[in-house]
Amino acid sequence: MLIAPFMPGGVLVGTVDVLLLGAAGNMGRLIAAELAGREMSIGLAGRNSEVLTQLARRLSANGARGEVRTVDVTEAVPVTEALMDARVVVSTIGPFMRWAGPVAEACLDVGVSYVDIANEWPAARRLLDRDRHARERGVTLVTGAGFGVAATETLVLRLLGDTSGAPARVRVAGAPAVATQSPGVASTIREAMSQGAVTYREGQVAREPLGTGATVLSLGGVQRRVFPGPVADLEAARMASGAPEVVAYVPEPSARGADTASYAWAEVTWPDGRVDTAELRLGDGNRATAAIAAETTARVLAQDGSGAWTPCRRFGAALVTDATDATVIVHRAAA
Ligand SMILES: NC(=O)c1ccc[n+]([C@@H]2O[C@H](COP(=O)([O-])OP(=O)(O)OC[C@H]3O[C@@H](n4cnc5c(N)ncnc54)[C@H](OP(=O)(O)O)[C@@H]3O)[C@@H](O)[C@H]2O)c1
Repeated sequence: MLIAPFMPGGVLVGTVDVLLLGAAGNMGRLIAAELAGREMSIGLAGRNSEVLTQLARRLSANGARGEVRTVDVTEAVPVTEALMDARVVVSTIGPFMRWAGPVAEACLDVGVSYVDIANEWPAARRLLDRDRHARERGVTLVTGAGFGVAATETLVLRLLGDTSGAPARVRVAGAPAVATQSPGVASTIREAMSQGAVTYREGQVAREPLGTGATVLSLGGVQRRVFPGPVADLEAARMASGAPEVVAYVPEPSARGADTASYAWAEVTWPDGRVDTAELRLGDGNRATAAIAAETTARVLAQDGSGAWTPCRRFGAALVTDATDATVIVHRAAA
């Protein structure tokens, strides 16, 4: 582990635990603070060296260790150079449909593990398709290490328990409450929604126009209008359950409300018709994402486990409650 002060200007002083891409962004700052709190050394990476240097000063005043690296992910060579002496890369640069691929490929080439906070279905699916390559390279890839994916994935895994047979249907929904919406989130949602409504039907990907399959769910005791969205929760629920029918809902923007709590919901329908549900509640969704990303990163550093993963499949359903103050309630149908 590097023991050195922040070295603004990109001077390489050794290996950092984490190269944090997009460190100056909304999520980057929150994740940097969480990583520093876990005593990891950080390479603060992004396009704007001035902003990164200010962030480095604030972090080092609190005892954090690391350095600043100027990187634009549209340029392949500097990305590879920047991650070469990191133990794990954490990427907050979306849309992940566009940037997860090139960054993950650079990690695979160099042999460095990778964690992202993607919540776009195509990005997750493509990242998970790199499983064999990751195992060959001895690299761990984790996608969806945030509220998006982990909050519904923990519920699905809890509902499945030790059951070996696949359920008939799994439905999930995530409704994060966030204080601010950044340019990165806005562009990511815009690009992701162009995929339309994506679900699994009879085990196959089904695509329909956005808005198809809209319904009303009770989230946090409030009835909210939701619709199937092209979110990574879909892929995580399918992989965890093996169910042929899977739907991941997102709230209609007008139905988000002024709630300061974030909610996730999951429902498992068994072949005999029993229906089990589970709910999760926590505070600010972005803070939860930062805590989940940092905890995932700490575990990637601490444990071997090559391959491509979603966070709770790799580190267990308790990851979310270990990292955040989430409360979970499980309702099981009578046998
Ligand atoms: N899974 C979840 O639950 C979850 C939760 C929150 C956010 N997210 C996702 O995380 C992503 C980031 O969100 P955010 O709120 O942090 O966005 P943000 O505040 O806009 O920050 C994005 C950061 O990425 C940097 N960046 C953009 N393009 C870059 C490039 N080509 N090379 C290097 N750096 C680049 C930006 O740098 P500049 O300042 O130079 O533009 C900025 O620092 C979004 O895709 C969002 O959807 C997921």
